[in-house]
Amino acid sequence: MPAYQEILENRVEQIFEELDIKKPFKDNIKTFIEPLKLKDIDTYLHSLRVAILSVEIAKGLSKDLGITDLRPAAYGGYAHDVGKLAIPDETLKKKEDYTKQDMEKMKPHTIHSFNMIHGTFLLSSYLALEHHSDKAHDPYPSERERKKQEAKLPPGAKEAFEKCKPVVEIADVYDAMVTRDNQKYGGRMDPKDTKPIMLKIYPQYKELIQKLSKFNKNILHTEDIHWKKYFNRKTK
Ligand SMILES: [Fe+2]
Ligand SMILES: [Fe+2]
Repeated sequence: MPAYQEILENRVEQIFEELDIKKPFKDNIKTFIEPLKLKDIDTYLHSLRVAILSVEIAKGLSKDLGITDLRPAAYGGYAHDVGKLAIPDETLKKKEDYTKQDMEKMKPHTIHSFNMIHGTFLLSSYLALEHHSDKAHDPYPSERERKKQEAKLPPGAKEAFEKCKPVVEIADVYDAMVTRDNQKYGGRMDPKDTKPIMLKIYPQYKELIQKLSKFNKNILHTEDIHWKKYFNRKTK
């Protein structure tokens, strides 16, 4: 049986095929992501899962969100945390829950992600910049920073970005809940327990989250990325 990492990598590869993402683009985005493997394997695996989940969610909500092109969701999910390459190991790899000070050190990762991929994957760089920006509690980066960058987006791209934005945000927070050993939430969560927390974090996405959990057998309970098999969930 292939190892967990290989299963995820194969799945991402398959998504690239399905979306007809050509080799130069595929190789290019991988060049950004590959160093994460050495820097922090957990962030690397998280990036693979968020790419997979983002595409599944974008497919599932394509009518609701008006998404016609799934590629930004794939790139955006894949590269959203690439800026963590610039975060010092003692913060990034800390096993305990983050303190306020740790959070402040983590926050610039969105801006680093943006700067790293902006020249090549324009739309996705905005998805990366803003993947923590709509949270009800402690959103970042600042509104000033977001507006400054958003002002540079051409109108067509801005529209596509706004459609895809909830997709990457939801995929990211969902994956963190079910895989990270977060003491604040009583350890890793069972997928079926995530909805109330997601609604707290993103009350403005209530309708989308409700919809997702209705047809989510293949999305939020994604069997083929083997949540339960690979993560020993702690009981609360
Ligand atoms: Fe992040
Ligand atoms: Fe993330």
